[in-house]
Amino acid sequence: MSSTTEQIKDRLSIVEVVESYLKLEKAGANMKAKCPFHNEKTASFTVSPSRGTFHCFGCHKGGDIFSFVEEIEGIDFSGALKILADRAGVALERDNPEAREEQNVLYSILEEATLFFESKLKDDIQALQYLKDRGLTDETIKDFRLGYANDQWTELLSFLRTKGFKDVDIEKTGLIIPGGKSGYYDRFRKRILFPIGNHSGKYVGYSGRIFPEDDSKDKAKYINSPETALYHKSKVLYGYHQAKASIRSKDYCIFVEGQMDLLMSHQAGFTNTVAVSGTAMTEEHLLAIKRLTDNLVIAFDSDQAGVSASEKSFNMALSLDLNVKVVKLPKGKDPADFILENQSAWDGAIKGAKHLIDFYLDTLLEEDYDDRKLGLEVGSKILPYVINIRNNIEQDHFISKISDKTKIPKEVLQKELERIISQTTEDKSNYNNIIPPPLKQVTRRNIIEGKILSIILWQEKAGEPSIDLLKYKERLKIIIGQDRLDELDKLSQKTKDALIFKAEESHKDNDNLDYRMNDLFINLEKEILTTQIKEKTEKLKDSEKNGEEVELTKLQEEIQELHQKISNLNNLSNQ
Ligand code: CTP
Ligand code: MN
Repeated sequence: MSSTTEQIKDRLSIVEVVESYLKLEKAGANMKAKCPFHNEKTASFTVSPSRGTFHCFGCHKGGDIFSFVEEIEGIDFSGALKILADRAGVALERDNPEAREEQNVLYSILEEATLFFESKLKDDIQALQYLKDRGLTDETIKDFRLGYANDQWTELLSFLRTKGFKDVDIEKTGLIIPGGKSGYYDRFRKRILFPIGNHSGKYVGYSGRIFPEDDSKDKAKYINSPETALYHKSKVLYGYHQAKASIRSKDYCIFVEGQMDLLMSHQAGFTNTVAVSGTAMTEEHLLAIKRLTDNLVIAFDSDQAGVSASEKSFNMALSLDLNVKVVKLPKGKDPADFILENQSAWDGAIKGAKHLIDFYLDTLLEEDYDDRKLGLEVGSKILPYVINIRNNIEQDHFISKISDKTKIPKEVLQKELERIISQTTEDKSNYNNIIPPPLKQVTRRNIIEGKILSIILWQEKAGEPSIDLLKYKERLKIIIGQDRLDELDKLSQKTKDALIFKAEESHKDNDNLDYRMNDLFINLEKEILTTQIKEKTEKLKDSEKNGEEVELTKLQEEIQELHQKISNLNNLSNQ
């Protein structure tokens, strides 16, 4: 651990960091609260002041102050480091002060430009009136810092120059484009501007909607900032910063397509709304959401372009194990139009959102197809989504449901599913790098090893261990071997912390830890012996089949010996 993170940990206690987000109650040596990372009725989120760690027994999230801030703010480690360093008053060693300085200059330019565009909007009665006619309130316009760029070629450029910024720096923000008499000209002209914030709330780009309307062909309705050093389109979601606390507390996120949709949805009280803006939805967008919730409600335009773009997004979301629901909107309407017409109906539309598969299934059933056509449609439109559901129980639930509703036998659906999977395995492997594979089968041996390890780790952290740690470590080495011990030692700190919390929870009132340890060791040995017996019995069968007499006798003796060991252990544990 670098000295900076240690300094921060020295100055900030986990209790004060956590308490700035939620209220903790004392529970023995620890503190407890309802977990901020999942919905629960009883408090299973536990903080250990002495170890500086937290762990939730419900959702198994855990770690130190850095992981807590990452998780609750939905940011990465470097973001958490920055927040906590500020708070602790620890200066971050900047490996590259010049790059940092340049970044700050770019942020200042964007901030000045945003202020400039805001003031231009205040001066433009028509643009303001247009936004109000679309249903936006003064408050929304102010909160989301909407602006206006006049129909001028160098208005912003001149302003930023008078502020002392260099053209090369302004260019790096994407606000100006090389060309023309002045060397550069403004990218956004004659447009209402929606500033786009990064996930910590700093403005990094804009989406600009033409205003007044312009019929000439080359004028796109929207133009957007280009990709820059600060603006990464595949990562940033419009409105994420304003929405994240609400997404977490409501435990779902509404996904819309456009800025206007987002603003209207926020205004209607759904502050847990985000938008992809000017780009297709990416896995990084979805992972940013997944840090906050597993529940996604998608409200895209119901036009044709919307549908095909949605398919890809839906499959991505399902394969990331998100629960995806879809809002049904009247044909040709987007959320902004819909809310403008009747704000209170939005609530009903969100509540009435259907699981993606139900949504498509019901849409198909409305079509009145004959059996053959229905089967084909299910195969091509619905099963591809079912494949992407990662949870097997969920998947089975939907197969049953499809079978019930379409009267296609479950086995037929299952067969078809297998056929599609065999065709698409190549695509699916793309996801392997992002999501860890499902847990390897947990064996009894794993569980017992985990229990023993958890007690050892816990006691190591305790001021005065109440058992002879050296003795038990040696005993563990003899039973499972150095290699396996090394493997366990390599477990992440997060996993180790979780084990420590588990041990503490199960054994804090146990005054005879030696007794418990002894029991665990005996069980572990028995488990290993039993596995060996199983393996040897398999070999024995082979030898019998092949008539290998010598081998057969040898195996019989070995198995006998193993049984004897187990019975010795049984006597031991009865003492
Ligand atoms: N978009 C874009 N470039 C375009 C068209 C659209 O970047 N040429 C993005 C914008 O972020 C827009 C979103 O896609 O908000 C949705 O597009 P669309 O539905 O066409 O726009 P609306 O939001 O409905 O536009 P408005 O309501 O302002 O007419
Ligand atoms: Mn739209």
